[in-house]
Amino acid sequence: MTQRKIAATVLAQLLGGWTGRGPAYLNLAHSLQHLILDGRLPLAAYLPSERTLAEALGLSRNTIKASYNVLQDEGFLYLRPGVRGVIRLPAGASTPGVPLPPLTHPHLLDFASAALPAPEGLIHEAYTHALTALPTYLPTHGYLPLGLPALRSAVAARYAARGLPTTAEQVVITFGAQHALSLIVRVFTSPGDRVLVDQPTYPHALDALRGASCRIVPVALTPEGWDPDAWAAAARQTSPRLAYLIPDFHNPTGHLMPDAVRTQITRLCRETRTLLVVDETLTDLALDVPVPSPFAGNDRYDTVVSIGSMSKSFWGGLRLGWIRAPRDVAERLGAARSSVDLGTPVVEQLAGAWLLQDPGPFLERRQQQLREQREVLTEQLNLQLPEWIYRLPEGGLSLWVTLPQPIGPALVAQATRFGLRLTAGERFAHDGLLARQLRLPFTRPAAELHEGVTRLATLYRELVSDDSRRNDPRVNVQLDMY
Ligand SMILES: Cc1ncc(COP(=O)(O)O)c(C=O)c1O
Repeated sequence: MTQRKIAATVLAQLLGGWTGRGPAYLNLAHSLQHLILDGRLPLAAYLPSERTLAEALGLSRNTIKASYNVLQDEGFLYLRPGVRGVIRLPAGASTPGVPLPPLTHPHLLDFASAALPAPEGLIHEAYTHALTALPTYLPTHGYLPLGLPALRSAVAARYAARGLPTTAEQVVITFGAQHALSLIVRVFTSPGDRVLVDQPTYPHALDALRGASCRIVPVALTPEGWDPDAWAAAARQTSPRLAYLIPDFHNPTGHLMPDAVRTQITRLCRETRTLLVVDETLTDLALDVPVPSPFAGNDRYDTVVSIGSMSKSFWGGLRLGWIRAPRDVAERLGAARSSVDLGTPVVEQLAGAWLLQDPGPFLERRQQQLREQREVLTEQLNLQLPEWIYRLPEGGLSLWVTLPQPIGPALVAQATRFGLRLTAGERFAHDGLLARQLRLPFTRPAAELHEGVTRLATLYRELVSDDSRRNDPRVNVQLDMY
């Protein structure tokens, strides 16, 4: 693999206004440390040479050298004479986070799962219709590796209604989006292949890629969203086989990819022969904007494979999702499936097809419920934790919160003591800690959100009550390690 290199100009831009009180070399070292911990600088990449960074920042080479030495002493850089420094984490820093307590724990308020309960009545009604329709299918053998024709047609019709002509033959029904992704990864990658992903991204996508022994190449999202130049640099430096993106109400950050970036990334993937997989699981949950058009509508050359799901729009317990792809790709995926499973249950698919007949009125109610819950969560955060920063997402299920200190892992470690189930940034990072981030879903009822923030605020105040710890970045780094 070609090693990723960070250009001095790019690093100077990322550093922004890094200067502060105290010696320049220490300020610079701590700013670089923060970029590494926040996942903005990829691990195992080369930092710029002392000379080029000195030029880009208008500093002396000695200052850069001293900074790099501090980073090396603190375990963030691997330096050898004559070779550019390689970014790493201190030993023990990237061990998996504290395991989440089980979902069934009776007294915990769940701030870890971004998923809604089943809508009252609707799912039951869908299954009642499914059972009524079932007798037609009983004389058949019931094995449908590509999916029930009625559901494939319903999914295709929804794409067409949203402006992307699609035939039922282009759709493969799966057990949810997660199954769809692992099927795609199994068919289109081999062990050792590079796969571009956003950093942060959906953790089970990372699990699927690791499970297939892919080499994950994280591309950092900026606070504003996707950086096409960073994508271009990563694609050209690493020759990836596949790229995985969540363009609509990205999990966990909530970003919505602008049209121009969609076009740029689609073109880049075509030029670099990278299979572009877009996960549109959250697309229906548009709260302040119209439901985005299908990503593949940008793609005149059939380079995009789309994943969809009923889990967030309706209910995760349906276990229904799909892949939309060029017809030959869909057939290949359907054929490959037989080594693991032979298709999705007929009753579930009948229920899904019924739900998709006229989803509009229900989805509007769900969007309204989410808007109201988002408002409760933001109101409570503004009131009880005003120093926590977040961007109001135009859709999706959660807020991506930036903490004033890198204490995400510490909050998670202490959460059960306060009756909370929490998940912090590290769950969403391939490497690095994202220790300053926390994902807070607004999927629970208002009363629970209210109580949850109160408990979170009490926990936070207890953790940061010691001022001397708060202001020393090196102490903060040690806090991250447990
Ligand atoms: C972006 C994304 N993709 C996929 C999934 C998994 O969806 P499913 O339940 O359809 O497998 C989720 C669930 O949280 C998700 O947020």
